Amino acid sequence: MRNPIIVALDVPAADAALKLVEQLAPVSGGFKIGGELFTSAGPDIVRRIRERGALVFLDLKFHDIPNTVAKAVASATRLGVQMLTIHTSGGFEMMRAAEEAAQQTAKQIGGPAPLVLGVTVLTSFNGSTLAEIGCEANVGAQVERLATLAAKAGLRGLVCSPLEIADLRQFLPSHMQLVTPGIRTGAEKADDQKRTLTPREAMDAGANWLVIGRPIYAAENPRRAAEKILESIF
Ligand code: C5P
Repeated sequence: MRNPIIVALDVPAADAALKLVEQLAPVSGGFKIGGELFTSAGPDIVRRIRERGALVFLDLKFHDIPNTVAKAVASATRLGVQMLTIHTSGGFEMMRAAEEAAQQTAKQIGGPAPLVLGVTVLTSFNGSTLAEIGCEANVGAQVERLATLAAKAGLRGLVCSPLEIADLRQFLPSHMQLVTPGIRTGAEKADDQKRTLTPREAMDAGANWLVIGRPIYAAENPRRAAEKILESIF
């Protein structure tokens, strides 16, 4: 069975990231590069991780006019990432342009298209922060609206909170891949993640991939922490 653990490389520079990759590649399904690492280490960090044969999830949450997002997705595809994120609130045309760019660029370079993942409502939002920006003040309804739009636009995956998985599975096409952060084993100390599930619970609810950061990279022994999580899943 495929290893669903994607380790979030939330570290500031390439050397720390590569050290984690070295330790964790044999026990992980892939690595997530976000804004902090990408802005400091650049596309070269993606190439260096790909050289080691690991899957890369480029989490830059693109949100712009359709043409600009399509070009960014094309660049990420040429860079060789397997997953990337866009904001579903960028709208139907933007999402469709992103998916098309992934498919067409992959065809040109003769590889598989990366999974373009839609981000719905950020977990830092609640009813009042949604209302503040002029959206319906109901997080669940807004997530459902954006997830439905993403599926219509042809996206093949979404990032969601682990507590949204069961609801999303009720109405999304079954091929839609769900990627979830907010995973905690119960063994680590409390941090800013408030609404969490364990790896086992998230997989049982229907997650395809688990994005896990601090419970692995901040553990005393990151490799052992990842192994323990794997054992809890299979
Ligand atoms: O350390 P932790 O396991 O909380 O890391 C989770 C990762 O997932 C971080 O990179 C964080 O930015 C990301 N993420 C999140 N919640 C979201 C979207 C992304 O925690 N809603």
